[in-house]
Amino acid sequence: MKTEWYKKAIVYQIYPFSYCDANNDGWGDIEGIISKLDYIRELGATAIWFSPLYQSPDKDYGYDISDYRAIDEKFGSMADFERLLNECHKRDLKVIMDMVVNHTSTDHPWFKAAMSSPDSPYRDYYIIRKGRRKRGKLLPPTNWVSSFTGSAWARIENTDEYYLHLFCKEQADLNWDNPRVRQEIVDILNFWLEKGVDGFRFDVFNVSSKVHPLKDDKGLFNFLKGEKYFVDGPHMHEYLRELNEKALSHFDSYTVGESYHPSPENAREYVRAENRELDTIFNFAHLDADNALGLKFIPKRFDLKQFKRGLFAPQLAHHGEGWNTLVLENHDTPRSVSRFSINTRKFRYEASTMLATLTFLGFGIPFIYMGQEIGMTNSRFRHMDELKDPVSHFVYDLLTAHFMPKNLAFRMVRFGARDHARVPMQWDDSTNAGFNHGAKPWQCMNPNYREINVKKDLDSDRSIYRYYQKLLSIKKNHPAAIYGRVDEYAHDDRRIVAYSREYEGNRLFVVGNFSKRPVQYRLPGWTKYAETLLENYGGFSAESGTVTLRPYEAAVLEVKR
Ligand code: GLC
Repeated sequence: MKTEWYKKAIVYQIYPFSYCDANNDGWGDIEGIISKLDYIRELGATAIWFSPLYQSPDKDYGYDISDYRAIDEKFGSMADFERLLNECHKRDLKVIMDMVVNHTSTDHPWFKAAMSSPDSPYRDYYIIRKGRRKRGKLLPPTNWVSSFTGSAWARIENTDEYYLHLFCKEQADLNWDNPRVRQEIVDILNFWLEKGVDGFRFDVFNVSSKVHPLKDDKGLFNFLKGEKYFVDGPHMHEYLRELNEKALSHFDSYTVGESYHPSPENAREYVRAENRELDTIFNFAHLDADNALGLKFIPKRFDLKQFKRGLFAPQLAHHGEGWNTLVLENHDTPRSVSRFSINTRKFRYEASTMLATLTFLGFGIPFIYMGQEIGMTNSRFRHMDELKDPVSHFVYDLLTAHFMPKNLAFRMVRFGARDHARVPMQWDDSTNAGFNHGAKPWQCMNPNYREINVKKDLDSDRSIYRYYQKLLSIKKNHPAAIYGRVDEYAHDDRRIVAYSREYEGNRLFVVGNFSKRPVQYRLPGWTKYAETLLENYGGFSAESGTVTLRPYEAAVLEVKR
């Protein structure tokens, strides 16, 4: 029976490598996570999404899985995981597992079996094609590019054949058109559901169904080559319904799909409740408001109107039909407070709280990325060696191969690097920020941890964590903040974000100044007798009708029926 608990959920994301390293070996671990569950619970979270904990050779740090039924040793054992699950449930925290099944690691036994013999039944678990000969040269089967740069095909040694990999070459795409592959996935889902996990986050789910026969993409942009043949592919909806029928619907589970450039029409279908595909997907369009062409390494001047369009479009499209999610950060993005032209030295508290207020009171489930609740910022990486993410290196190599000066390439990589989110969590001002007891962390610390850490935040009278607590309590306790219809105000304004949520006659009004200068704003008349539920400066009053919002000021008002 589906209880729809997820509609009221507040999800906290943990990237296990970097949360807390209890055994002091440089890698975060399950024991460390268990020691922080009260901290997460007290923040107001009701669920945790764990980035992959499974066995992995870590070519893409956990997103290349070599055994879907094993916990990676560096994080702990299966017994540790079961304890974690139990400790979460004791605290009413649901557990959402990452599920990376567009591809497996090339270390996975299926892939190894596929490579061991041309007659192996496992060959058809993957997408393997003969290369093409042109003027005596062997070329990949199509011109598709990997989303991590370069050809999406890797040659199989000593043969004329290639396997498809839309990400790293160590992440071989599974052939979802093979019913045995889909059955394997069903079995894996059931394995974890039977253990008691409460849901899944499906990694890049909407690239799993490809258009056959595979062919060249004649499109103009090299970086998009192939997308039209694998994004929202022909059987995607059908395959999701199958997973539902055979696994998900037998449990009170929740799903969120990490979509990859879905069309708005497909996005709607994925989450339309009656379709029984996914409960929600992530929408990231607003996070492209400070980069060009959706390429996160190419900075552009922040465009608040674009941000608002991206943020509100899915809220309006999915309301009444399905559910939505609200995201500012994850393990693939730089820190939100360091983006959008924000000066973190001056306005870190104001901007962190403003961003959370404007985003999380919208229609959908807030997803908070570890450290966001204390306003962690981007790191000051000094050279490429400090970046561990392979993608940072692929992009750097690509840029410098095309004659870009090294320092410019480095600056571009640093602008969009996923590494910013992956430095260890900053707990206090002791060695390695309390992440561990002194062993060299797998990824270097952000040097600002003496200034920005949990302990210092909690001791401060401008605690971002405590602001989040109040904000999340509004989200949970006001049905309008969960179910209410969204009406956007100030739509064309380049500095103000404002909207109302209305449910059964109760109304919330959320307003914020998304700029570093004071801005005058005329409140809608109906807010005149509103009560101020939350504000990040103090002294906010709706009474006079027109307010001067200070830099990054935000407020939440309530009008009762
Ligand atoms: C998703 C993950 C990312 C990973 C990629 C390939 O985008 O969030 O971290 O690299 O998929 O699995």
